[in-house]
Amino acid sequence: MTIQVFSTVTDVSNAAASMVADQAKTAIARHGSFHLVLSGGTTPRHTLERLAEPPYATGIPWNKVHIFWGDERWVPPDDSRSNQHMARTALLDHVAVPAGQIFPIPYRQSPEEAAEGYESTLRRLFGKQPPRFDLLFLGLGTDGHVASLFPGTDAVMEQRRWVCHTQTQGPAADRITLTFPVINRARTIIFLATGEEKAPKVREILAAAGVPPRLPAQLVHPVNGEIYWLLDQAAASLLTEKI
Ligand code: 6PG
Repeated sequence: MTIQVFSTVTDVSNAAASMVADQAKTAIARHGSFHLVLSGGTTPRHTLERLAEPPYATGIPWNKVHIFWGDERWVPPDDSRSNQHMARTALLDHVAVPAGQIFPIPYRQSPEEAAEGYESTLRRLFGKQPPRFDLLFLGLGTDGHVASLFPGTDAVMEQRRWVCHTQTQGPAADRITLTFPVINRARTIIFLATGEEKAPKVREILAAAGVPPRLPAQLVHPVNGEIYWLLDQAAASLLTEKI
């Protein structure tokens, strides 16, 4: 696990964009394509916008990039709360990823059908084994959730399905999310966490060596994979030196 702390959100976003470029180069050299899983919420937007600018907008071979999502809200794709909508406006409308290589979580009659739809897409693309994504972004909820795996929900414990419907509180309560059998097969996971409101959970997660996991974020353990935490000073403000 690598923890990097940056002065500002902009520095976090620049570092994350640079890592995407590096990971893309490695993956394309290894298997001819780059399978990238985007997270939702507000934090990743800055990184996606940075990737839509030079040198990344033309420097990354976007024609070899395949885009997936870690989770989605059960809202139409043109809804401003949609993670797909955010990624398209921030990045995908500005770079040359072929449309056939963009795999949004579909909006269906029910969230269960949306989850089943995404799972069948992944199984069609990757076969019997859960996909081993090259790079998977995760945000961190103030309750310690990742993707839409919320504390105390069945989806956190799901070991068979690759995609689940789950619920949270508040608007866009119905969610569709990748499960840990998929998340923990990623080659590289980047956590993006910024802002003071994330500091307590960042400390609980990163200082919890030997303590039984309590939060979904503590169940992120990529098998033969790497985890990077990219934090701003506010989110890292409760970390002590010894971590
Ligand atoms: C979503 C996300 C969710 C998000 C965290 C952090 O659909 O909202 O995937 O897991 O990453 O809630 O969100 P912020 O970046 O907005 O704090």
